[in-house]
Amino acid sequence: MKIIKASFLTVLIFFVISCQPKKVGLQDNDYYKKVDSLMKLMTLQEKIGQTVMYSGGWSVTGPIISDNNISYIKNGDVGAMLNVYTAEGTRKLQEIAVNETRLGIPLLFGYDVIHGFKTIFPINLAAASSWDLDDIEKTSRIAADEASSSGIHWTFAPMLDVARDPRWGRISEGAGEDVFLTSKTAEAYVKGFQGDNLYDKTTILACAKHFVGYGAAQAGRDYHTVNMGEGELRNVYLPPFKAAIDAGVETFMTAFNELNGVPATANKFLYKEILRNEWKFNGFVVTDYTAINELIKHGFAKDAKEATKLAMNAGIDMDMMSSANRKYLSSLVKEGSLQENQVNEACRRVLLAKYKLGLFDNPYKYIDKDREKNTIYKREYLNAARHSAAISSVLLKNDARTLPLNKTQKIALIGPLANDKRHILGNWAAAGDRKGKAASVYDGFKEYLPKNRIFYAKGCEIDSKEKENFTKAISTANKADMIVLVLGEDYNMSGEAASRSSIKLPGNQTSLLKALRNKFPKKKIVLVLMNGRPLDLSEEELLTDAILEAWFPGTMGGLGIADVLFGTYNPSGKLPVTFPRNVGQIPIYYNMKNTGRPIPENNPKQDYKSNYLDIPNTPLYPFGHGLSYTKFTYSNVTLSSKSNTYSSSLEATVDIKNDGDYDGFEIAQLYIHDKVGSVTRPVKELKGFKKIFLKKGETKTITFTINAENLKFYNSNMEYTVEPGEFEIAIQGSSDFKFKNTFVLEDI
Ligand code: BGC
Repeated sequence: MKIIKASFLTVLIFFVISCQPKKVGLQDNDYYKKVDSLMKLMTLQEKIGQTVMYSGGWSVTGPIISDNNISYIKNGDVGAMLNVYTAEGTRKLQEIAVNETRLGIPLLFGYDVIHGFKTIFPINLAAASSWDLDDIEKTSRIAADEASSSGIHWTFAPMLDVARDPRWGRISEGAGEDVFLTSKTAEAYVKGFQGDNLYDKTTILACAKHFVGYGAAQAGRDYHTVNMGEGELRNVYLPPFKAAIDAGVETFMTAFNELNGVPATANKFLYKEILRNEWKFNGFVVTDYTAINELIKHGFAKDAKEATKLAMNAGIDMDMMSSANRKYLSSLVKEGSLQENQVNEACRRVLLAKYKLGLFDNPYKYIDKDREKNTIYKREYLNAARHSAAISSVLLKNDARTLPLNKTQKIALIGPLANDKRHILGNWAAAGDRKGKAASVYDGFKEYLPKNRIFYAKGCEIDSKEKENFTKAISTANKADMIVLVLGEDYNMSGEAASRSSIKLPGNQTSLLKALRNKFPKKKIVLVLMNGRPLDLSEEELLTDAILEAWFPGTMGGLGIADVLFGTYNPSGKLPVTFPRNVGQIPIYYNMKNTGRPIPENNPKQDYKSNYLDIPNTPLYPFGHGLSYTKFTYSNVTLSSKSNTYSSSLEATVDIKNDGDYDGFEIAQLYIHDKVGSVTRPVKELKGFKKIFLKKGETKTITFTINAENLKFYNSNMEYTVEPGEFEIAIQGSSDFKFKNTFVLEDI
């Protein structure tokens, strides 16, 4: 009887909401009408169900779903699942939701598709190092295509947390330290995942996370407290989220941290005031994993029921894994502590997303085994991953043109990551295969050199104190003309809950480098790094001839890295984050404030200045730094006018010449300094960048347009404003330069 009733209602629902024009052109208002007609049929319990998400967990063989979860789905108590994928796995669950619940409302399947789904692209910090927004959009599009073919509707990405502390493991998941670069990548990710039309079965919902301040966790310790003034919040941490909204992002995720004493998941100021009132966001907000329950440990709620109420009052729509909404929302409404309308709003937003995806027209439209088979690991996608790996690597140093490698030499390839296929994917590698699918650097070398000219030895483990394999590494290096060492971090040393108090290479890897250098003082040593954060490379810098920062480059990483090392791709990556000299300089970032006692340029050792007694203030490698095999010379900076007004714009042009022997890409960066403000302004701020290609000997003139909008900031009254006065301006290939040009913003 129940089944018959369910089927009848299901047919009714599909009739109510399907017999209208389906997709493109529908306004949110049309969707709202459809959702409202569905909601008229729903009980309070069913509406609450739409605000609940559970994890399926997963194993190598497929998703594991607990009996509890199945019974919740059957009861209509679950609206979304995470960590469930494959066409087969998602179909089973969707069938339960559609055929065995009273209303047959389809489930939403979410997953952390962070830098690829099966085809894994370089980690996000690496993608930011490419400064290539087209590539970020393209690779996110590919990730969405693969994930959606495997039943996924929603990714928990992009992570837009500005991060200035390399101890924090999740720095690997974002775009680094800069607000402008992070905001630009936000747009590219959202466009890539969501495409132009969510109804298209190759697109998925994106999720701007973690709202907000998570990257500023004290001492770089994950989940730790965040205290910051509203000015810093608005000028640095919020803009990437606003950029995601402007790009049309459909969902937001809360952050684990507290912000100025109020945990983000219960923070009305963030969700009600900023997100909904100021920014008019009308998508839905999901908590981070068990974040409602964590309000108790934060000391903000006395029990889970109170936590549920606080989160709902803050404007949170969906509960990920706390079981809080399922257990307490109904009684909170019945006893009058919450309004039913609050639940309605949350439910409405979730249903709206399902509607936009087209799940009410066909709950199985993303579930198609053939499409899954033909989409995942497409040759075209693997090639794209190889390209991304190449464009995301950053050449940190290259003395005496050590790189590119000479193909006639014998090369010793040494290090725990030289033939690795596991760590190379990096953290948060979704459904990526760590068991042999990836191409190692060794595989890449085999494409360029005959096997008898590559001499491989592991040398040591990533994080171990043993030295017994050093002898083998030394005898291997002895056979070769030069040494390429591939060192770095374990993939689990970055990502969530992976903070480090030391940012040096772990284990005995630096000792291995020293042993090789001592034994072979004249042999060239190239260091290739795979890691998820800026490292302290002060020792390595002195011991090597060249360093290539490859980050964790993904499934095709080894091939992309070989393309760079052998000169098929001339490196063009630039650092999206500062590399300190040591951990004591943290936080260190290029757009700092000047202080009242900056060190004088010509005498940095003066007393009573803002400096360290033991090291310079400067970083080892600055933001924006990255070498090429060729040389780019910047000259003739010209401004179309020496003054600008609120309504006019000014053009800054520069000539960039490729003065070296290789064709190559350069990333030209526009920086501005607002010299005097009603609140102090950073010494430099990135305001634009362009990736350009120059043949050897070629010169191009590039132009940036600057108007008052580019110069705005939040003043002490939290007004987004621009102030007249003098500005310094420069276009350069890194943030390490001194300004020479100025213009004035007139008060008209
Ligand atoms: C992370 C999120 C992630 C979620 C779901 C949490 O632990 O903080 O970034 O999306 O888990 O996997």
